[in-house]
Amino acid sequence: MKFYVRTYGCQMNVADSNEMGRHLKANGLVETQDPEEASVFLVNTCTVRQHAEDRAFSEIGRLRHWKTKRPGRKIVVTGCAAERTREYLEDRFPFLDLVVGAKSIEDFSQMAAQLLDRRETDEELDYAVPSADDRISAFVTIMRGCNYSCTYCIVPSVRGREIYHSMEQILGEVRDRVAEGAREITLLGQTVNSYRHGSYRFAELLEGVANVDGVDRVRFISPHPYYMSDRVIETMAEVPEICESLHLPVQSGSNKMLRQMMRNYTREQYVSLIEKMRKAMPGMTLSTDIIVGFPGETEADFRLTLSLIEEARFDWGFIFKYSPREGTPAASLECLPQELIEERHRECLELLDRVALEKRSKLVGTTPEVLVEEDNFGRTRTNHKVHITGNVAPGEQVRVRITNAQRATLQGVIENGNITFENFREEDSRARTGAG
Ligand code: SAH
Ligand code: SF4
Ligand code: F3S
Repeated sequence: MKFYVRTYGCQMNVADSNEMGRHLKANGLVETQDPEEASVFLVNTCTVRQHAEDRAFSEIGRLRHWKTKRPGRKIVVTGCAAERTREYLEDRFPFLDLVVGAKSIEDFSQMAAQLLDRRETDEELDYAVPSADDRISAFVTIMRGCNYSCTYCIVPSVRGREIYHSMEQILGEVRDRVAEGAREITLLGQTVNSYRHGSYRFAELLEGVANVDGVDRVRFISPHPYYMSDRVIETMAEVPEICESLHLPVQSGSNKMLRQMMRNYTREQYVSLIEKMRKAMPGMTLSTDIIVGFPGETEADFRLTLSLIEEARFDWGFIFKYSPREGTPAASLECLPQELIEERHRECLELLDRVALEKRSKLVGTTPEVLVEEDNFGRTRTNHKVHITGNVAPGEQVRVRITNAQRATLQGVIENGNITFENFREEDSRARTGAG
């Protein structure tokens, strides 16, 4: 029997999908990339913005037809939208077989076993074969939930309060992923650097994970500026396995907006934090999340967000249009006109693209180390995606000369040893133009 998984939302959801996939494999199922082959269709939903939820629900609507095409097919809906709208889902889509909210994900294995009417046994666990997409670079969830209450955000209500996994459990999971072939571990949590368990804090966990045999790279997402302590920065700078790249959501460049969002830092604190980090880790890349059109955002507030993008010189980022979420404090505030939000979104994206391209173009001619994740595709320690010309296998680390940095994915050719025609030609043209 085969299963197919469709995941919406953030890395936490991707990690949850992987975990649920492992449980299904333990029940003897095999993952497929083709829904037509599948007997079980799992939709892992997101509800962070209305758009995310709408996309998942229209997919579920289409599955009515998929289900009737073959007897015995089952549909499982999980995740954050399932948590928020469980009754509505069951009403609107009576053909669903199982709905599991994000807070109950830990009960998934038992529920799935019941649905499939099989018992999990150790023997069956041997069936668990990691899927290709998370083999080299694996996610490990270190905490669930969020204790913050950013006024726009639905996550705390659908994921609950923070629960931390123990250091032993996390290290055990890291070892499992390494045994399956992982070389890079990304630790996950909504405010991942607020981690604490017993006497351990996030910095000790980072060190512990970096010290596991076979781990070449460590990343984490999403840290909150408030918990970005000196100790964490020092650890990042000192421990070679921890990559010099950070996704640090800022949301807005206006202190008035930050206060109304209840983000718990000011623009100045954010800027001095990233300056400190860049001093400790020269060459560090920085990305962010920004919300435009939060209720009450004036033209002047918006300009402050634009000026922050120039000041912080982000390497890339996500710009979101504010979306009111029922039950959050901001949902009762008056929304800005949609056209204005669209316009600000466009302007913000254009500026971010320009700043990011300026930074990217400086990479041409450099020779970063790339961890190959799929044939001809890998990432630098700074988290730039690179399309590689040359013969490489997943899991290898190679030095790559960057030849083009126009688009989000850089182009590069393998340095040394493996001289390919293309990097030969590249060297040749550089010599002719006198560059480098
Ligand atoms: N825990 C992470 C972010 C989780 S949600 C953190 O705090 O950094 C991912 C991103 O979605 C947020 O950073 C925010 O930019 C965006 N977001 C969350 N709620 C939103 C909403 N109601 N409207 C628009 N964007 C939102
Ligand atoms: Fe949402 Fe804020 Fe928690 Fe992030 S820190 S998940 S934005 S409440
Ligand atoms: Fe979406 Fe849930 Fe992540 S709401 S962004 S999948 S925590």
